[in-house]
Amino acid sequence: MTLIQNDFRADVVAPFAGVVSEPEIYIADEAPQDFFARETLLDAAFGPARFEKTAERLREGRLPAEGLALVMKHGALLMGTLRLWHVDAGGADALMLGPLAIAKPYRSRGFGRRMMAEALFRAFAAGHRAVLLVGDAPYYEAFGFSRRVTRGLMLPGPVDEARFLGLELAAGALQGVQGLVRATGRLEPARLREAA
Ligand SMILES: CC(C)(COP(=O)(O)OP(=O)(O)OC[C@H]1O[C@@H](n2cnc3c(N)ncnc32)[C@H](O)[C@@H]1OP(=O)(O)O)[C@@H](O)C(=O)NCCC(=O)NCCS
Repeated sequence: MTLIQNDFRADVVAPFAGVVSEPEIYIADEAPQDFFARETLLDAAFGPARFEKTAERLREGRLPAEGLALVMKHGALLMGTLRLWHVDAGGADALMLGPLAIAKPYRSRGFGRRMMAEALFRAFAAGHRAVLLVGDAPYYEAFGFSRRVTRGLMLPGPVDEARFLGLELAAGALQGVQGLVRATGRLEPARLREAA
């Protein structure tokens, strides 16, 4: 668990004022009991069309990468989610990042950046060599993501190419890679039963 400096003051805290100490904000590994709160947050952030996104084709039926499914919580309240997924990027092992969402009342306070930093640090520390994502370049360029390293790659569906970005955690990890990005993560238990 990573504690975040808690300078957040909001209505959600007010009822507790003077009664209990202010809840901490922290990043932790996602747990099975976070399922409903995470899905509710993602529905609110992206709407039902989220399941139609091309990036979803690389996530459906798979489990996220070990140690790289993160939640941010304010006390017991889940207010952030970020997950990364194993993919093959034209013959190179890589991670696909997303979705990232921060609950509306908590936005523009650096929590999204904090989750990104934690996830990228964990990915680097675990020896992962590259991260891909589909997202807004103005937000993700700050972490070093660029279109330059994904030019030879294709996603399994339509995508605005300017939003298909990559980051090398190991120098040259995406150099010269070409081809389709494919999901390689572990299958969800239900998919495993279907495949058996
Ligand atoms: C994108 C998101 C995760 C950012 O979280 P956050 O905690 O608000 O981000 P931070 O506080 O670290 O950064 C906020 C800054 O990023 C900017 N920003 C937010 N979303 C942006 C975007 N899509 N493109 C460019 N800049 C963006 C904000 O304008 C803000 O700038 P400011 O600090 O000058 O006001 C959050 O807005 C969110 O959940 N949005 C809905 C879901 C989504 O679009 N997810 C990203 C696609 S996977």
